[in-house]
Amino acid sequence: MSASGMMHLGAFFHPTGNHVASWLHPEAQLDAGTNFRHYVQLAQTAERGKFDLMFLADAVAVRGGDLQALRRWPQYMTFFDPLTLLAGIAAVTRHLGLVATATTSYNEPYTLARRLAALDHMSDGRAGWNIVTSSNEDEALNYGRDAHFGHAERYARAAEFVTVVRGLLDSWDDDAFTRDRATAEYFDPAGLHTLNHRGPHFTVRGPLNMARPPQGHPVFAQASASGTGLDMAAQTAEIVFSPLHTLAAAQAFSQDLKARAVGYGRTAESIKVMPGLNPILGRTASEARDKQAHLASLIHEDVGRSILSTALGGVDLSGCSPGRPLPDDILEAGLRHGRSEGRVVVAMAREGLTFREVYQRFGSARGQNSIVGTPDMVADHMERWFREKAVDGFLIQPSVLPVDLDAFVDTVIPILQDRRLFRTEYEGSTLRQNLGLARPASSHAGHRDGPG
Ligand SMILES: Cc1cc2nc3c(=O)[nH]c(=O)nc-3n(C[C@H](O)[C@H](O)[C@H](O)COP(=O)(O)O)c2cc1C
Repeated sequence: MSASGMMHLGAFFHPTGNHVASWLHPEAQLDAGTNFRHYVQLAQTAERGKFDLMFLADAVAVRGGDLQALRRWPQYMTFFDPLTLLAGIAAVTRHLGLVATATTSYNEPYTLARRLAALDHMSDGRAGWNIVTSSNEDEALNYGRDAHFGHAERYARAAEFVTVVRGLLDSWDDDAFTRDRATAEYFDPAGLHTLNHRGPHFTVRGPLNMARPPQGHPVFAQASASGTGLDMAAQTAEIVFSPLHTLAAAQAFSQDLKARAVGYGRTAESIKVMPGLNPILGRTASEARDKQAHLASLIHEDVGRSILSTALGGVDLSGCSPGRPLPDDILEAGLRHGRSEGRVVVAMAREGLTFREVYQRFGSARGQNSIVGTPDMVADHMERWFREKAVDGFLIQPSVLPVDLDAFVDTVIPILQDRRLFRTEYEGSTLRQNLGLARPASSHAGHRDGPG
């Protein structure tokens, strides 16, 4: 549980919503991905609901696959890059944390450190960075490579990338810029540190051409699923968004992750577990179920085939009939790819669902945990997981945007507030303060060693 005794909430804005068929819903913002005013509205609604943060996913390529299916599923085929978008959002919000995904596989640490520092300054300390190693393999093709880095190399590069970013953000001591007209000295050279990093993946002299950000460094987030990824999260992440589907699994995950973090010399409170939650709300439970069924019915068969094929590591599902169960040899082949999404799909199929039922259920939540019911039922679920120390909060993934964010803010947030589970006013002015996270001291704090 957090120090404030309150849960933390993030809002995940897939352009038209979390649901695969969200764009077909009449209340979805049809051109969401490139509509700035849409995101302004979402951010302001999240801030009205006192969310800790808004979160944006990213990829540096369009999604690959069969155009027959892709043309019916526009998500992330046309959308803003998160750091550019959040720079605009910073100007129209005051409290909301602004968390951008950016890949360590197809970026340079200097460029990214500079952009993250800029967002933190522009927002007065509300920036966050979701550290990913790229799940879209096609990104490699836009960055001078024929294939994506292997998993181990991806994470080795990511670890070095983060070290360099941290080092660059510490280029200037917090008080290095004295800006003293009386002495005509703008900065104190003793407060400037040149990184001189040379490693297997990056060579970066530094220093960064920007003052240390208000938060020291932006809040670091991760959403890994593999052992390597979780180990890196235990070392560096301050928020973890990995999907969790049952109370017991979430408790085990949190305990394990926090124990690993403690093993790295951190405190259990310095890492917040906030898995995705997709609430499907209705005034009654049956209205919520009808809404879920309606959204599921909007998923085109081509799209269903494509999402399940991707989740199962690219297996060919062209011969499978929607009204029949998925054949066991295909499920086994999918499991061998070792993707966590694949395990979710196989578990659903083994409950005896047909191919159509699996893609309808999986496509609705997109690998996240869906809670279908009244605002009280959703709040009950959240309360239970929070009180039973399974999570520090949730990353809310509304199905259809903007309407389902409005519904959550108008109906679930007041219940959580009445139960003293969620804030009624922001505690601080930075994202760190609202999350109850300490501001990291500079690696040079206490020893002024002058320009390197
Ligand atoms: C909530 C959430 C958001 C994610 N956002 C992105 C993203 O924007 N870009 C990306 O490349 N991967 C994203 N991922 C994928 C993860 O970063 C990670 O690569 C994936 O869970 C597999 O973990 P592993 O690399 O440890 O095997 C996201 C995962 C989750 C659960």
